[in-house]
Amino acid sequence: MEYVSLGHSGLNVSSLCLGAMTFGRETNESDSYRMLDMFSAAGGNFIDTANVYSRGLSEEIVGSWLSRQNRDDFVIATKVPFPMGNGPNDRGLGRKHILQQVEASLRRLKTNYIDLYQLHCQDPHTPLDETLYTLNELVRQGKIRYIGASNFTPSMLQKAVDISRSKGWEAFISLQAKYNLLVRSSEWELLPLCEREGLSFMVWGPLLGGWLSGRYKRGMEGPPPNSRVEDAEKEGWFESWTNYNNEHTWKVIDALLEISREVSRSPAQVALNWLRGNYSVTLPIIGARKLEHLKDNLDSVTWSLSREHVEYLNKMSDVPRPYPYDTIEQNCC
Ligand SMILES: NC(=O)c1ccc[n+]([C@@H]2O[C@H](COP(=O)([O-])OP(=O)(O)OC[C@H]3O[C@@H](n4cnc5c(N)ncnc54)[C@H](OP(=O)(O)O)[C@@H]3O)[C@@H](O)[C@H]2O)c1
Repeated sequence: MEYVSLGHSGLNVSSLCLGAMTFGRETNESDSYRMLDMFSAAGGNFIDTANVYSRGLSEEIVGSWLSRQNRDDFVIATKVPFPMGNGPNDRGLGRKHILQQVEASLRRLKTNYIDLYQLHCQDPHTPLDETLYTLNELVRQGKIRYIGASNFTPSMLQKAVDISRSKGWEAFISLQAKYNLLVRSSEWELLPLCEREGLSFMVWGPLLGGWLSGRYKRGMEGPPPNSRVEDAEKEGWFESWTNYNNEHTWKVIDALLEISREVSRSPAQVALNWLRGNYSVTLPIIGARKLEHLKDNLDSVTWSLSREHVEYLNKMSDVPRPYPYDTIEQNCC
């Protein structure tokens, strides 16, 4: 496993991050521990969870495992501010909720510091200054070491970067955003912004919840049982069958399966390597339901796609840019 530093920081993380969103949900506790063992044995040191994953259970599982390790060997990332209760201050990026949730995350993770504390989503109802000042104080207190963002629009992310810079506060070192062969809109603004401002770009949903794993093939009539896509259909999550059962998806999957056959690697490894082949991407956060998935995904770092294969996948997954990106691309460059 190789290691990279996050943003403009001295924090070194493995080039794959283990996502803990399935822990306590699709993956039971003992299999979650086995995944953490397998990941750490492969040299992985970077684990991503969130307070909201299974309402704290994912953090608890990571915390129980962590308490049996040398804490300092691992980089633990978690998040706020999705709802953790029904009260008006049980959500959002206001000071009250953040301060309450950071203590709750520390308790569940059984640690006295969080390496990377991430804003899971922007909050249109709270002034950014209030949020960033609160995070700055938490870094001063040693409860969190670094800060990052996730699911921010480009304009809000730029605003946050500018506020931190002008006030001399702690600045984001990373952005966690959805990006994969079927969702490439981060290329329009977020990827260039991160590159320009020195933030690491970490990918969530690298397989679009399994769509890019090879389990889905043209001609299928619906999602297989016990799959994320089936759950998504029931729960109304973004990676549902209804949202992605269309010609563009099948065209991209056809290309993915073609390359997979050519290189004799699983489709999941090809999709992960397409991301790793983009020099603006720092790392993917790998998600898994089963140990076999994790083993497969870990093997993606042992090889690389050729430039021709990356370009072919770029071409087959390309979508027309909306205005104003189309006009700028066609007329102004
Ligand atoms: N910041 C955010 O808003 C946000 C949002 C989502 C996730 N995340 C983070 O990103 C991590 C990864 O996200 P994700 O779980 O959506 O990732 P993903 O890789 O897009 O989807 C994971 C799903 O793909 C399937 N899969 C994974 N590896 C496979 C393999 N090798 N072969 C066959 N199937 C495979 C499994 O689906 P089945 O269950 O159908 O088998 C698994 O549950 C999460 O754990 C979390 O830490 C962050």
